[in-house]
Amino acid sequence: MLDFFLTICALTAYGSPSRTYAVTVRFSPPSLGHSMTARMLALALGVPGAALGRRVARGGRKVREIPRVARSRLVAAVVPCSAGGQGFAGRRLSTARCLAHRLGRGRAARCFAAATATADGDDDGDAPSNAIASSSCPGAKPPVEETVDVGARGDVGGIEWASRRILALDAASPGWWNPPAPYGVAPTPALSSTRDIGPPGRYADGAWWRGNVPDDLHPPPPPPQLLSVAPMMDYTTAHFRHLCRLLSRHTWLYTEMEVDQTLVHTDHPRLDRYLDFPILTHPSVLQLGGSDPETMARATAVAAPYGYDEINLNCGCPSPKVAGKGAFGAALMPEPELVRDVVAAMRENSGGAPVTVKCRIGVDDHDSYDHLCRFVETVASAMSPTRTDGRPLFAIHARKALLAGLSPAENRTVPPLRYEWAYALARDFPEVAFVVNGGIDTLEEAAEVARGVGVPNGGGRLVGTMIGRAVHADPWGVLSDADVRVFGAESNPRTSRRDLLNEYVKYCDATRGRFGTTKDGYSVPSTRHLMHPLQNLFLGEPNAKVWRRRVDEALKEHARNPDVGVGDILERTLGVLSDETLDAPPGDGSTNARHGVKRSGVTLGNLPPMPTRSALVPASQ
Ligand SMILES: Cc1cc2nc3c(=O)[nH]c(=O)nc-3n(C[C@H](O)[C@H](O)[C@H](O)COP(=O)(O)O)c2cc1C
Repeated sequence: MLDFFLTICALTAYGSPSRTYAVTVRFSPPSLGHSMTARMLALALGVPGAALGRRVARGGRKVREIPRVARSRLVAAVVPCSAGGQGFAGRRLSTARCLAHRLGRGRAARCFAAATATADGDDDGDAPSNAIASSSCPGAKPPVEETVDVGARGDVGGIEWASRRILALDAASPGWWNPPAPYGVAPTPALSSTRDIGPPGRYADGAWWRGNVPDDLHPPPPPPQLLSVAPMMDYTTAHFRHLCRLLSRHTWLYTEMEVDQTLVHTDHPRLDRYLDFPILTHPSVLQLGGSDPETMARATAVAAPYGYDEINLNCGCPSPKVAGKGAFGAALMPEPELVRDVVAAMRENSGGAPVTVKCRIGVDDHDSYDHLCRFVETVASAMSPTRTDGRPLFAIHARKALLAGLSPAENRTVPPLRYEWAYALARDFPEVAFVVNGGIDTLEEAAEVARGVGVPNGGGRLVGTMIGRAVHADPWGVLSDADVRVFGAESNPRTSRRDLLNEYVKYCDATRGRFGTTKDGYSVPSTRHLMHPLQNLFLGEPNAKVWRRRVDEALKEHARNPDVGVGDILERTLGVLSDETLDAPPGDGSTNARHGVKRSGVTLGNLPPMPTRSALVPASQ
């Protein structure tokens, strides 16, 4: 029990020092603990009691808005409180930890270290909140309040998770997960003594990073990227990716984009929420978003021990939060030198995982083929070869992005697709590998690109295709036959949707509630989260809509029932579907073509002429 504890509030401001800005404290659902945290933050900022802010509802959440305060008031503050019997001590510490991380150094960090040294033993176990980090980091994940069950890692219910590596590191070298030394500062002796567990990392300029990355992080080289599932925020979750893996052994799977700040400001066990994945899900690519080489280096180092096969930099997201306020994603395309530096910093810290790039063919008025070539040439010079192809890899979303004027959704449909530019890149940069993305809806198209069919006259050969929305819209139709048709395997891993569901239920049983339970009594992840990837499994089949309605009803009824898992929901609802649907094999006309999904039908234009500047490697070689 605490007699006394400290809440240290330290915020960094961006923009000019004289600017004012607003602090938003989010809490959902409202509770005494959260209110007190908001109130204490306001006190620490010196906001008078009357100006504690309005409570407003926004997007289904209660939000307390604190009015603008001058930056000069955003200093480290120490708030003494009596703590007798107060259950929210941990949460206050969490907020303090989050805030102190934001500053990372100086008075707040020192006070925080002192405070946690005294108080951590009395922490009520709450995980640190990401509230401040996420509200101030564009694109970062919204906070979720729940406990983290540190025990549920490694091998859970027969599913082996990548976090087993972290556990091995913990066992071999207790305390290896120290807060990173500030950039450019040599690690303390305690940190450097852990280096013998793996090669130390270095920043691009040679400064030390902690040595925590063992050599054997990655399984044997996976197959070439003939087909991959595109990164999609809120869609390509660990659960959806696992479903995809059950459908295809060889297809590469990209995570949702993780924002660098989210990873850098998240504590160790809680990182599992963002980064852990079942070992079976290899080959997997982690996509990161950010534009600051130092922060990206740290985020990459934090992610490296999970052993992703590649780490990908997002240079294609046009959303205002990302490309506007955050100045990363597609906003990076006009700045190839910065991207080169970011890639170099990531490469230095990726534990040997190749760093790849996903980009558009242009942004706003930086949309000539020459611009694109300069981008590829500059960035590729800092990239490492992939283990499968021996060349650095770009995933090209073959349409430009218009940052002003089009919404993210429009930016995925309105600008015309120019596959010929991807073929021209393959022609002009034979030392670089290219995967084409955008508007590819059928396995047939993917198989053709993988076989090199349809390369326009004079164009280079692409490695493969990346498919996004079509996989989400019809996972069975696109992926169930992929191993045979795209990768030339003798058989597909699943014999029917029924077989798929049986396997997926095993995963769900091992995964539900891995991260504890929210205060409302929902498991994290919940049955609803785990059911989400299944929503389009029966696309176009008789009674598919009835099934979805039944699932919705069942989820509403049993949302908080700890005894009802995915298997139970399926048992209660699958009866509306016929055996013919459930037992239909992959291929055999059951692909999405059968449901009327058309090929993208994009006609190739003329190849653009060779770039006017010297290419990375002259095409004649
Ligand atoms: C809901 C949604 C979320 C997306 N999130 C990301 C992302 O996090 N990172 C990224 O590089 N692209 C993202 N994209 C873009 C896709 O990766 C892909 O480039 C785009 O959808 C075009 O491919 P498709 O026509 O096969 O869907 C997203 C697309 C959608 C529809």
